[in-house]
Amino acid sequence: MSTTYCCVYCRGSVGEQGEGLRCERCGADYPVRAGIPDFLPRPGRPNATGVDTAELAATVDNYDAIHDASLFNVSVEMREAVSRVRPQDGQRLLDAGCGMGLLFDHVPAGCHSVALDVSHVALDKTRARHPHVRTVQGMGEALPFPEGSFDLVFSMGSLEHFISPEKGLEEFSRVLVPGGRAVLLLPKKAFLLRNAIHYYIYPNFHPVQFVRRALLRLRRFGGMHVQIRDRHFTRPELVAFLRASPLAVEEVLDVPGTVPSALAYVYLAVLRKAGG
Ligand SMILES: C[S@@+](CC[C@H](N)C(=O)[O-])C[C@H]1O[C@@H](n2cnc3c(N)ncnc32)[C@H](O)[C@@H]1O
Ligand SMILES: [Zn+2]
Repeated sequence: MSTTYCCVYCRGSVGEQGEGLRCERCGADYPVRAGIPDFLPRPGRPNATGVDTAELAATVDNYDAIHDASLFNVSVEMREAVSRVRPQDGQRLLDAGCGMGLLFDHVPAGCHSVALDVSHVALDKTRARHPHVRTVQGMGEALPFPEGSFDLVFSMGSLEHFISPEKGLEEFSRVLVPGGRAVLLLPKKAFLLRNAIHYYIYPNFHPVQFVRRALLRLRRFGGMHVQIRDRHFTRPELVAFLRASPLAVEEVLDVPGTVPSALAYVYLAVLRKAGG
């Protein structure tokens, strides 16, 4: 399947232009670097969703730094998330905020999978890990895909970092087919010690990576305004946030389901677009 792109400024169709891509309606150019098209909306130019891009440049740098020293993986939660919707061969699937592409460890290779992230470093890692997955640099709040492009949209611990999670959900809805589903992992506010406990109970935690990341943070962010955003939810806050979106809420669960609710560290939400 060849992915069809649309312009993040005017939603016109995007075609090839030399080494890069260009909007056929407004002429916006999108460079392609190392096989990854760059659809990050540029600051100072109004984009189709009106998402604030003033923070973007610094945010991207910070995410690149983090992905240079990844911390742990949430494979238990991801497996559970995938099992709720059981992707089938031939379905079109988007992971918005893919990081290094760990979700695709759990998705059939026969799906038409697209991985999107703001970080080029993260996308390079996704490509190396899963060469069959199409990688696209962009913002989840200004997706470069036409309406109805996907059967499933995943966001595994990424929507809470978006500059506008609300616009993120609107975009997930726009790019889903009628009847398509969005699957989200979002952090629980109640789990105050969540990081500490996470480090101890999860087998994938790497102490060396943790120290490396801590040092990186000090070097990169020392004395700077940290622009990476993070949102945590109580259940009522999460339900209110999801209900305000154009998608219908199918379920909100604690995961992993194997631990008592008080120890679960994220919520898993499944949303559905009307119709289909
Ligand atoms: C905590 S990581 C999770 C990565 C991956 N989903 C996983 O679970 O391993 C959050 C990811 O969201 C990405 N991200 C942050 N803001 C974003 C935005 N506005 N649009 C798309 N991706 C974003 C970051 O670059 C980062 O890769
Ligand atoms: Zn355009």
